[in-house]
Amino acid sequence: MSTHDTAKIFTGRSQPDGQQFDAWSNQPLLLSMEQGQLDWPSSCRNGTCRTCFGKLESGQVRYEIEWPGLSADEKEDGYILPCVAYPCSDVVLHPGD
Ligand code: FES
Repeated sequence: MSTHDTAKIFTGRSQPDGQQFDAWSNQPLLLSMEQGQLDWPSSCRNGTCRTCFGKLESGQVRYEIEWPGLSADEKEDGYILPCVAYPCSDVVLHPGD
């Protein structure tokens, strides 16, 4: 029995090429993208280095850590750190600028 048994699967899509992946609700988006063979930059994998910085075009995420390495403005503008962001819906994201 795996932890996936109680998780929801959302549809994730990464732009600009529109590659799709299974976005499990119980694991960070970065991990789901890697399992879906998507190439996404990462380094620390704990929400501090910002290497994985990206922007949500649609959908919602939640964080399990108190304050990921994003400013309040960035969060409001839809920027996310996929290494610590868990999907709450279908998501479309693209790499940050
Ligand atoms: S990999 Fe470092 S913040 Fe995501």
